[in-house]
Amino acid sequence: MPLRHLLFALIVIASVLHATPTPETGVKLNHIPALYLRSAISLNGEWRTIIDPYETGFYDYRQQQRDLSKSPSRAETFYLDVKPANPGERVEYDFDTSPTLNVPGDWNTQRPELLYYEGSMWYRQNFETPTLEPGQRVFLRFGAVNYEAHVYLNGEKLGSHVGGFTPFDYEIGDRLKKGLNSLVLKVDNVRHLDAVPTVNTDWWNYGGITRDVRVIVTPATFVSDYRIALESESTRVISGWVRLNGPAAAGAAVEIEVPELSEKITATAGADGRATFSFTPHALNLWSPDSPHLYDIKVRGAGDEISDRVGFRTIRTKGRQILLNGQPIFLRGICMHEELPLHGGGRIKALDEAQQMFAWVKELNCNFVRLAHYPHNEFTTRLADEMGLLVWSEAPVYWTINWENPDTFANARAQVLDNVARDANRASIIIWSLANETPVSEARTSFLSRLAAEVRALDSTRLLSAAMERHGDRKQKNVSVVEDPLAEYVDIVSFNQYIGWYDGLPEKCDRISWRIPYDKPVFVSEFGGGARAGRHGPATERWTEEFQEELYRRTLLMLDRIEGLAGFSPWLLTDFRSPKRLLPNIQDGYNRKGLISSEGERKKAFYILQEYYARKRAAP
Ligand code: GCU
Repeated sequence: MPLRHLLFALIVIASVLHATPTPETGVKLNHIPALYLRSAISLNGEWRTIIDPYETGFYDYRQQQRDLSKSPSRAETFYLDVKPANPGERVEYDFDTSPTLNVPGDWNTQRPELLYYEGSMWYRQNFETPTLEPGQRVFLRFGAVNYEAHVYLNGEKLGSHVGGFTPFDYEIGDRLKKGLNSLVLKVDNVRHLDAVPTVNTDWWNYGGITRDVRVIVTPATFVSDYRIALESESTRVISGWVRLNGPAAAGAAVEIEVPELSEKITATAGADGRATFSFTPHALNLWSPDSPHLYDIKVRGAGDEISDRVGFRTIRTKGRQILLNGQPIFLRGICMHEELPLHGGGRIKALDEAQQMFAWVKELNCNFVRLAHYPHNEFTTRLADEMGLLVWSEAPVYWTINWENPDTFANARAQVLDNVARDANRASIIIWSLANETPVSEARTSFLSRLAAEVRALDSTRLLSAAMERHGDRKQKNVSVVEDPLAEYVDIVSFNQYIGWYDGLPEKCDRISWRIPYDKPVFVSEFGGGARAGRHGPATERWTEEFQEELYRRTLLMLDRIEGLAGFSPWLLTDFRSPKRLLPNIQDGYNRKGLISSEGERKKAFYILQEYYARKRAAP
């Protein structure tokens, strides 16, 4: 066995032996997780914008990055956000008279001419410096920007960030001006072969500042991160750690309070500003989909305090079973993109839109949702905590990633770890997914097994999976096989299958048997087919609701024959935009596999799944 596999195995054994939150491994993150919990000044709203397809504001005519220290021309250096100093000065941009875009929000659905735009967009927002007490610190936090962002404050570069679905922040206290500050971003959603995701995805490449932007003031020393998790539902031992950031972090007293449990635990931070704790409450209301009980908690340290709401549950596997709080559970799932199709569609940008999506998920009698194919908003995973939906959270390691490029691995690792650190205290999240439908190769399996080890080192309290692929047995007709070297590195063997849509017609489902040679839970992470809402005809006519309904009916019967199946999440809740779906009067730029149309209409297959899950809930 190669050394790296041996090392990985040791990490796995160590992590499985104790389900406490793994001590933070000193991973460098792009964000400070607990900043999300603090009161903030919102910079959401209308931002001035300049469409810049030739990146005139970023490169000079020799295609060199504009840098005042090299070429003192202010004329087209957009990040300076200047006006002509005199009537003779040439300045060839003006944010103040440029059009606006709403933030948060993708640009594609805000202006018709931007629907297919893939390029650079400049954003500018002004904001007042908040009144500060001595020693207070100021941070600027972006919930997400797709895909690459260069951030400038008052004409100075704060940094750049790559990755469209995870938060990043900058400390800005020493760069603020008295009065009004100029915040300028250059955002581009250009696709690249070595990016994550790569150039080819079956979803719309929405660009922009797609999530909230906040200014956050903290004390000099503050609670920057924490973990808390139930180790075992039988012993009720709860453990975790608190990390402080600032000059008074080392040796500081730390306190974790759970008022409803009358628990107040104290600990002392080490020289690294981190304190560990553990306690055993006298009783505990476990979190589950049927009882999504959340506890208010307070975390204090060095005079600072943050509040959160957390659920306590355990998740593990036993043979082919998934055990929630020690009890077998069948995952009644559905997949969803982060896109509410109503009102013109586009990236979900507010809680009420996530609430609409989850209302449909609950209406289907689901207890599980696969948030495809990238980390969704933090308010969405918190909503899942509140509503009692188990969550599969996924990294956009999708299809044909450049497995050989170390920068691509570093990019994927950063996105995965930022996502884990952001949501590590969400009871709803039970599965971290590494990838979707990635072609099997030595380089791919090495890439993903290394990613798996990184996730387990940061969080050993959840299950790992990835949406793998199945194939037909070469010798035995109608035998479907799931065999993938990646199965060795995950806890749940998940796979996408489209028998009856991409492979034959729905009646083919009746003939299929399965070979899945793993003593691990088996989960079908996708199945489905397209239908144009309102198009009716015989069940043999593709794109009719009747065809999709028949496909669901026969697929469910086929899946019932998979011994010990732990659940599934059909593809998917709602129609969504995809530039790959071009059939006129049927797709028109939308993937039509939704059970709900882009106008919010429920298709006939919706009721097939709803009824199946109602029965499954009554008799799992
Ligand atoms: C794939 C993929 C999805 C895609 C779907 C489809 O399984 O994971 O992202 O949209 O199939 O073909 O509709």
